[in-house]
Amino acid sequence: MQTRRALVIGGAGAAALALAGLGYRAWDRGVWSGGEGPAYSPWSDWKGKSADGIKRPLRAAILAANPHDTQPWLFKIGENAITVFADRARNLGTFDPFRREMHLGLGAAVENLVLAASAFGLAAEVVPTDGMLSPSPGDTPAPAAHVALAPTRAARDTLFDAIPNRHTNRGPYRADQTIGRESLRRYADLITSDAVRVVFVEDKHARGELGALIVEATDRIIGDPQMSADSARWLRTGRRDIAAHRDGVTIDTAGLSPLMTVASKLLPDMDAKSADGYWLSMTRDTQVLTAPVLGILLVRDRLDMRGAIQAGRAWQRLHLAATVEGLAAQPLNQPVECIDRNAMVGKADSFGAAIVKFAEAPGWEPTFIFRLGVAERAATPSPRRALNEVLRT
Ligand SMILES: Cc1cc2nc3c(=O)[nH]c(=O)nc-3n(C[C@H](O)[C@H](O)[C@H](O)COP(=O)(O)O)c2cc1C
Repeated sequence: MQTRRALVIGGAGAAALALAGLGYRAWDRGVWSGGEGPAYSPWSDWKGKSADGIKRPLRAAILAANPHDTQPWLFKIGENAITVFADRARNLGTFDPFRREMHLGLGAAVENLVLAASAFGLAAEVVPTDGMLSPSPGDTPAPAAHVALAPTRAARDTLFDAIPNRHTNRGPYRADQTIGRESLRRYADLITSDAVRVVFVEDKHARGELGALIVEATDRIIGDPQMSADSARWLRTGRRDIAAHRDGVTIDTAGLSPLMTVASKLLPDMDAKSADGYWLSMTRDTQVLTAPVLGILLVRDRLDMRGAIQAGRAWQRLHLAATVEGLAAQPLNQPVECIDRNAMVGKADSFGAAIVKFAEAPGWEPTFIFRLGVAERAATPSPRRALNEVLRT
């Protein structure tokens, strides 16, 4: 009897311990706290206050889209101007060998800065830095754009209001819910300039072809150990990892179902090969397959710094406009990443020629590919570093 009772008590104790262990792991891995905590507070205190002066619009700037959430920016405050620097140490290595995507991200931050400045009564004049991007540049910060700010009458834009609601959505979209021609035309009008053009690919057959290129490029990337490793450096899997770095691509933003999100957090981290395989299947079977519209941003020369800043501004604007209308968006830029990688290693490239076929725009080349649609699930915010961490003295 004594032994039986001891066994029952012992069994209950072991179960309690196991539960406590599971509870600890769940807490440690942020199962219940996805998208919460100090790493996410910039999404709620994004408007600042008038006492912040010229720095005020920067709270919006740091919420911009940027590659792998590297947040490759630094801001230097001047008398009546802000200089946006590329924090080139925060790079994706061989995944972005010319730092072209880095400059698109800086352009996206500039766009949020301009929208917020206008809402706070500051007219912004942006002058991107002239020059060409070169392979594997040094890590020292380099100026990317100068933004002069002058007092004006405050003007509110719906795009400004959408800033804290814009998140990259990597989950399934409703394949049968197309986007109206009117909306697409409006988006095109909103971002077309001498420097940037957009092409929407709606036709099922054409979408299939462009989608196949995106999948093929993903396959190339995961077959390139260096690109795969350079991407993996920016993946954040646990609560502590996120709290310490406040950057990177997290499990919560991977577009998984709620059940898969919990499972991915509780289970040990996947090895690099499995994670790459998962990315490929997500791209092929969810992201490309369910996208009702794919799109391409074109520039005159993808390695021209001004063009990259302008294309980044265009993407941020387009994503904000889509957010206003309740639409989801996600960059799927693997083919252009492959073009850059091929150029870096001196390998013949076939992606560039294959993509321009969708554009019929001689003299223009692709710099950014994305999808738009109606999402099945809302996206979670990604972490951000605090503003004071990105001010340059
Ligand atoms: C130039 C550029 C390229 C990007 N490429 C991809 C991509 O290929 N796949 C993807 O899922 N997200 C991509 N993103 C989205 C970023 O990962 C995302 O903006 C970042 O993690 C911050 O998250 P947020 O947009 O939700 O704020 C890209 C963003 C930029 C600006």
